[in-house]
Amino acid sequence: MSTPTAHHGPALPAPGTPGRYAVALVCLGNICRSPMAEVVLAEVVAAAGLQDQVTLDSCGTGAWHVGEPMDRRAAATLATHGLDPSSHRARHLDPAVESWFAHDLLLVMDADNLRDVLALDPPDPDRVRLFRSLDPVDPGADVPDPYCGGDDGFEGVLSTVRRVADVLVPGIAATLRGPGVPGGAP
Ligand code: 4NP
Repeated sequence: MSTPTAHHGPALPAPGTPGRYAVALVCLGNICRSPMAEVVLAEVVAAAGLQDQVTLDSCGTGAWHVGEPMDRRAAATLATHGLDPSSHRARHLDPAVESWFAHDLLLVMDADNLRDVLALDPPDPDRVRLFRSLDPVDPGADVPDPYCGGDDGFEGVLSTVRRVADVLVPGIAATLRGPGVPGGAP
């Protein structure tokens, strides 16, 4: 059996602190895509038994919704699938307020997010990557912004996020095992 990274692009960045891995999910408003991804990933991380090693956060490049809960359509979509959206409060990717660039990996939902985050001059730009760079389906595509569309956009976000989570979490597990370890990162 091959390692998860073998088929899905470059290896993940190494952790800054051995044995721990911090991921930030980034979108525009932090009320739809990135908090949905955070909730799904938390479930997959816990199922892999990695909840004590993996930290998940999410934020938006825009500040309009700071402090608000998830968009009601995003929350309803998660709830329909048995996931709990209730703890989310929107945060802004402002490096002057929080040390977002201390995360091992920032996964951005679309090309606009990528441009906006790179414009903030992160110390290690290789840690900023498109969420769907890990997607076996249409790798590198945007996660389309569902905010101005219909409810089916949110179901689409959920299925994309689940597919990526099933690649990302084994990839993090391999990275945590470290280079040179059988089944670990190359
Ligand atoms: P998100 O969706 O980036 O997936 O959270 C959006 C939420 C709000 C806005 C845009 C996108 N907005 O313009 O307020």
